[in-house]
Amino acid sequence: MTGSLVVLGIGPGPARWITPEASSALAAATDVIGYRAYLERLTVSCEQTLHGSDNGDELQRARAALELAHAGARVAVVSGGDPGVFAMAAAVFEAIEHGPAAWRALHVQVLPGITAMLAAAARLGAPLGNDFCAINLSDNLKPWPLIERRLELAAQAGFVIALYNPASRARPEQVHAAFARLRQHRAASAPVAFAKAVGRPDEELVLTSLGEADPRQADMRTLIVVGTEATRRIDRPAGLPWLYTPRRVDEAS
Ligand SMILES: C[S@@+](CC[C@H](N)C(=O)[O-])C[C@H]1O[C@@H](n2cnc3c(N)ncnc32)[C@H](O)[C@@H]1O
Repeated sequence: MTGSLVVLGIGPGPARWITPEASSALAAATDVIGYRAYLERLTVSCEQTLHGSDNGDELQRARAALELAHAGARVAVVSGGDPGVFAMAAAVFEAIEHGPAAWRALHVQVLPGITAMLAAAARLGAPLGNDFCAINLSDNLKPWPLIERRLELAAQAGFVIALYNPASRARPEQVHAAFARLRQHRAASAPVAFAKAVGRPDEELVLTSLGEADPRQADMRTLIVVGTEATRRIDRPAGLPWLYTPRRVDEAS
C-alpha cells in the first residue's frame, strides 16, 4: 500500500495566513506531524492522528513521516511559515535521498506558505523592494565562521538582509557578534527593524538604525530586517514610520 506525503507551511501567525491549499491538504491528512507548538495552532478532526515532537531532530521527524506514508497513510508534515525556508521540506528530501529506494516512488508534494520575512516586510512597508537575502543565524547545522562570512559579503554586496533565528536561550551572544560584523560593512544610518511574533497577539515592531540597534531586542520569535543605505524611512504623524527600499538603484551605489 502506498500513501502520500505533503509538506506544508502554516504561515508565521494567524489562521488567515494559511493558504486554502494548505488547509485542504491538512484536512485530508490521516496523520499530521510537526513541532508540538505548530500543531497546537491547528484545528484538526478527532479522526486525525497528531504526531507532535520537540523542536529537535528534523531528519528523524522526516523519516518517521516517510515511513508512515510508505505504510499507506496520508501524511501532512507541518512547518511554521513556508516549509521550504529553513524548515521541514529540505529535511524530507534529505531523508529521501539517503533512505530506501521505495521512498522515491511516494507521492510527495510541497505546498508554499507565507514566510516570516514576507509577513514582517508587509508590516514594515516595503523594505524588500530591492535585492535582498535571508540568513539563518543559527549555527546548529552550519559553522559560525561561515555565517559571519555570509553576513560580511551580504552587507558588502548591498543586499537588504533578513535574519532568521537571531537568538535563543542557548545562543544569546551570536546576534551581538552578527551586528558587530554588519557595522563594519554598512553605514550606521541604515534602518533596522526587529519584528517580533508578527501576526500573533504579542506582535511587537521596533524600528531603529544599525548604529543604535540593541541586539538584546532579538529572541527566537524575532525576524530582523537590516536595510541598506538606500532604504528609506517615512515618518508619520502617528504610528511607526514606514520603511521602503526603492526599486531603482543608481550605478554609483
Ligand atoms: C526555524 S525558522 C523557520 C522559518 C519558517 N519556516 C518561515 O518560513 O518563516 C524560525 C525563525 O523564523 C522567524 N519567525 C517565525 N515566525 C515568526 C513570526 N511570527 N514573527 C517573526 N519572526 C518569525 C524567527 O526568526 C524564528 O526564529
